[in-house]
Amino acid sequence: MRELDVTAGPAPSGRILVLPEILANQIAAGEVIERPASVVKELVENALDAGARRIVVELEDGGTRLIRVTDDGQGMTAEDAPLAFLRHATSKIRGQDDLWRIDTLGFRGEALPSIAAVAAVELTTRNAQAPTGVVVRAEGGRVLDVREAGAAVGTTVTVRDLFAPVPARRKFLKSLQTELGHVVELLTRVSLGAPRVHVRLVHQGREVAVHPPVATLADRARQVFGADRVRGGRAFVDERLGITIEGFAFSPHLSFATARYVYQYVNGRPIRDRALQHAVAEGYASLVPRGRWPGAIVKLGVPPADVDVNVHPAKHEVRFRLAHVVHDTVLDAVRRALAGATGRGDAGEAPGVAAALRTYALRAVAAPALFPAATRSGASASAPTDTPGVAEADAAATAGAAPDAPDACGAPRGGFASLRFVGQVFRGYLVCEATDRLVLIDQHAAHERVAFERLRAQHAAGAIERQALLLPLAVDLDPGQCEAVTSHLADLAALGFEIEPFGDRTFLVRAVPALLGDDDPRLLLEDLADGLAEVGSQLSAAEALAAVLGRIACHSVIRVGRGLAAPEAAQLLVDLDALTYGSNCPHGRPVSAEFTRSQIERMFGR
Ligand SMILES: Nc1ncnc2c1ncn2[C@@H]1O[C@H](COP(=O)(O)OP(=O)(O)OP(=O)(O)O)[C@@H](O)[C@H]1O
Ligand SMILES: [Mg+2]
Repeated sequence: MRELDVTAGPAPSGRILVLPEILANQIAAGEVIERPASVVKELVENALDAGARRIVVELEDGGTRLIRVTDDGQGMTAEDAPLAFLRHATSKIRGQDDLWRIDTLGFRGEALPSIAAVAAVELTTRNAQAPTGVVVRAEGGRVLDVREAGAAVGTTVTVRDLFAPVPARRKFLKSLQTELGHVVELLTRVSLGAPRVHVRLVHQGREVAVHPPVATLADRARQVFGADRVRGGRAFVDERLGITIEGFAFSPHLSFATARYVYQYVNGRPIRDRALQHAVAEGYASLVPRGRWPGAIVKLGVPPADVDVNVHPAKHEVRFRLAHVVHDTVLDAVRRALAGATGRGDAGEAPGVAAALRTYALRAVAAPALFPAATRSGASASAPTDTPGVAEADAAATAGAAPDAPDACGAPRGGFASLRFVGQVFRGYLVCEATDRLVLIDQHAAHERVAFERLRAQHAAGAIERQALLLPLAVDLDPGQCEAVTSHLADLAALGFEIEPFGDRTFLVRAVPALLGDDDPRLLLEDLADGLAEVGSQLSAAEALAAVLGRIACHSVIRVGRGLAAPEAAQLLVDLDALTYGSNCPHGRPVSAEFTRSQIERMFGR
């Protein structure tokens, strides 16, 4: 057997060798520096860590030619400045224990050396104690020179010709517009995360965005997204088991194809956590159409020891020690914020329904009995606090919609019951009159909404009314549906169904939820089976519950095409007022639309 001399550098075959430092840095850069926006992210995070109150980002050619980030933070001493370019050199942690109490955005000591490995960097900095500043130039992962220079307190980092040393990377860059778009998105996230910091973005000498300091998250959201998008949203704050939450829930009338407008922060750090996204979506439950995402900003304060931020090179992901508590806190906070958003002020109407909903919310979260996915520990079985969870009502939202568009949001002022029912049109819409406006109500959506909320309340009380069928009904299902129904018989029973297997693919239905009236239970059962099959694969318990209740509600209501007598219409209006949630039906369609008198008059040129 041949002996290996491990002290003598490369093995004779020369196959393994330690990489030169520049190459190692370029490889490390590959993990965190993907595009101009990643450079901006690292530099802006450094500025925030340095306590900056004002951050200016300047770009040329989407950041590919030049990125300059200027901050008014604490700066560095002349000794520290060149050290910042050494790999694993950081002022932010000292020892292993510090990894568990990180309260800065950076801690790896990799960003600056990584950037300097793939671009030319010039850093100018001055610490408040120092009479002058210092300029450090670095390239190829090494410091080229350090010289004294006059400078304001703070730091400016200029990054030129990104990826020039690694042309292969450059090829992956998209159009300048796309790269600029990524930077805008990044700065949006930064701005929302730090409302008190002045953030400004300049591209080719032109100001692209400027967000002066504001006091609240809602103000920042308004600044960043514009008043229109923020209208109807709700700010919220909450606290549970040492976890704090502050957030802003956009109106349920806005929905998006992806979760990109669900902004999440943990201890000031922007993250992307799928479980959190789902918690937010669950909070909106059926207010947003299925398959669509709401918009929301969620900021969590978690004791540093309860969250591991050292999971992902770019720190987009974190790991929570009490993931389910975090999940439930978010879900509850969002739900309560929205429950307050009735679009007609926050009068303490219908306490019975509100209480039932609250119980329901807690059950759905802990979901001890429902669906296999619901085996999370019951951390939220504690009583809900009485804080309304709404810090701030958007005055514009409660005041109704913009005068120019037919309003599809929220109930009319004074409530639905104050409306005068004029008649029904197209056998599916109620025409109603208020003093200063015309209100159209989608009869089906309205009934569905009412039925849905009633089911929620009944389910929460553990008492969904059931109605026995005169004759048991045999229903044939396909194998997938059979499997779903068989494994959820108990859950279906809790929802008011009495079902038993009857042969291979047949089930006997003996009772159905009373709310269903005389709708054919066959269709509903098929529908439910499909839903449950889907549930098994992707939905969480609370989502599943909402989906199932929504389906039952949908099957239980007056369809479009049915006439409606005045007393029935009046009852529907009264029932609508008892709803705690907004005016969306379980599928997320609006219930009512309004035309103001002046709009109508304008149509006729008055
Ligand atoms: N804008 C700045 N103002 C003051 N100090 C800075 C600034 N940018 C960098 N530094 C100093 O340089 C050090 C190195 O920065 P770098 O971004 O490379 O690492 P880090 O922020 O410590 O960790 P990470 O790699 O996770 O970002 C920092 O720890 C900090 O002390
Ligand atoms: Mg850093």
